[in-house]
Amino acid sequence: CGIVGYIGHREAYPIIIKGLERLEYRGYDSAGVALFDGEKISLSKTKGKVSDLKKKTEGAMSIKGNIGIGHTRWATHGVPNDVNSHPHYSNSGELVIIHNGIIENYESIKTELINRGYTFQSDTDTEVLINLIEEVQKKEKVKLGKAVQLALNEVVGAYAIAVFDIKKPDEIVVAKLGSPLAIGMGDNEFFIASDASPFIEFTNNAIYLEDEEMAIIRLGKEIKLRKIKNDAVAYPTVLELQMNIEEIEKGGYDHFMMKEIYEQPRAILDTYRGRLLADQKLIKMAGIDEHLDKFLNANRIIIVACGTSWHAGLVAEYIFEDLARIPVEVEYASEFRYRNPVITDKDVLIAISQSGETADTLAAIKLAKENGAFVFGVCNVVGSSIARETNAGAYTHAGPEIGVASTKAFTTQITVLSLIALKLAQEKGSLTDARFSEFLTELENIPTKVEIALQSNEAIEKIAAVYKDSPNCLYLGRGYNFPVALEGALKLKEISYIHAEGYPAAEMKHGPIALIDESMPVIVIATNRGHYEKVVSNIQEIKSRKGKIIAIVTEGDVQVRALADHVIEVPDTLEALTPLLTTIPLQLLSYHIALMRGCNVDQPRNLAKSVTVE
Ligand code: G6P
Repeated sequence: CGIVGYIGHREAYPIIIKGLERLEYRGYDSAGVALFDGEKISLSKTKGKVSDLKKKTEGAMSIKGNIGIGHTRWATHGVPNDVNSHPHYSNSGELVIIHNGIIENYESIKTELINRGYTFQSDTDTEVLINLIEEVQKKEKVKLGKAVQLALNEVVGAYAIAVFDIKKPDEIVVAKLGSPLAIGMGDNEFFIASDASPFIEFTNNAIYLEDEEMAIIRLGKEIKLRKIKNDAVAYPTVLELQMNIEEIEKGGYDHFMMKEIYEQPRAILDTYRGRLLADQKLIKMAGIDEHLDKFLNANRIIIVACGTSWHAGLVAEYIFEDLARIPVEVEYASEFRYRNPVITDKDVLIAISQSGETADTLAAIKLAKENGAFVFGVCNVVGSSIARETNAGAYTHAGPEIGVASTKAFTTQITVLSLIALKLAQEKGSLTDARFSEFLTELENIPTKVEIALQSNEAIEKIAAVYKDSPNCLYLGRGYNFPVALEGALKLKEISYIHAEGYPAAEMKHGPIALIDESMPVIVIATNRGHYEKVVSNIQEIKSRKGKIIAIVTEGDVQVRALADHVIEVPDTLEALTPLLTTIPLQLLSYHIALMRGCNVDQPRNLAKSVTVE
């Protein structure tokens, strides 16, 4: 979920609405806003998107007020309906809350509150929390800040909350554990949000709360920071943010996804810029340089991630083992953290995460650290929880990724991981100097080659028109391009709701081949490097069963062209770098199919960009 708040001299409503739109990547099952105009609270909430909230609110209630909080929800407890949407009132109607996260022990607290006469409108854990705060306030006769603190000490779970009390109209209290919370610092005005995007046009100065911290934000006063467990904390560092407003707008494209697909040449370049020094035959990465011994002495590297980031991890497995000869295991963070894994201080764990906030990945990191492993993060969002929780790391410089379906984050993750593998290969001597140099030169050619791959957009749109109504789709690839097949299938199912499966091409004969008939589109990655002849045989097997073949081939290919129904060319490159190119047409194909099916490309149903619950 996304939370946003404002307290200051401006009208809060437009700030909250705009802020919620920017945070919709965190969920869009429902949205709500509460405003205070100095006398009364006006509150409106609805199932659906922020645009639905606007329709419901404007004209129907006063949208005046210099204090406000808003929420966009990704449902956990309770179906997405109006009642379960945030903000939530306490029973007295004096307290209002917005919450991102889960209160795990809410049922026992709820029972106790019911015994004391409290009633509940919704099924949410959040309404339980706000009434617990109210109960503490009454029982202990304390102010809002203290009541929030005492209540949170009774709570198990994860949260970023903002609470407003009608009795203290110049104050908002916020707290964080597990979910992110940033405070934008203006001139006697404060912005609260899950990330800095809602307030970036008003201020570049922000504080990021640490876990178990809370802040009492009062107009005309310095922010008061406390540990939830009680102790006061030193005034935090105010960061100067680098983000700019253009980066978070669509810039002429119809959708963020398309903009982000087209940003990949620039994003990849930004990711290796300053790190890849081809003329000096050098890769410079501070996070690796400072901990080289950890990597070189590691028994193995464990990669943990979720979703698309997990696919980048699979590509990295091939690169690390192939080039640097270090054993790699790739795990879903959610499985790793709960399966009692064997972790030692000879392990290096690499966590990959675009948002740097994925709850399961964060938990896997904590587990690995407790067991003595060295933990390295590959994140896109600067200052995110994972970036802060890891021992060292390397950022991808993709810039903000807003489309829910990950595109440029994936290719920049592969770029960073390739740089790391190459660096380790050089240190270990597992690559000859000549091969190493060849890789550096070729990596520098990738942005131009991605540009060329993007030129197939129109051809891909035509192919999309042919297959847009298919109920199923199969993606095949081998070696380095097996994870690309998985990613291609994920892209399609995420945004077009067509059932799609990715498979290692050779495994097809152990099951999926049964699905193939003349109506089944099969997308095969068949570049000329690595197992080309084997893939050609797999294509023959599909053809003999009348499957429709859409092949991603290397420029100038003739053999596959003769067999396939459609071919999409990508430039030639080293096998280990092919995923950076073969991914591009698959992203475009999903985009066009989803669009033709009338789907919301940037905000597919049921998904969220940043999954801060497990
Ligand atoms: C969600 C997003 C995916 C993303 C995954 C992991 O499911 O919709 O696009 O790949 O989370 O997120 P992360 O931020 O950790 O890379």
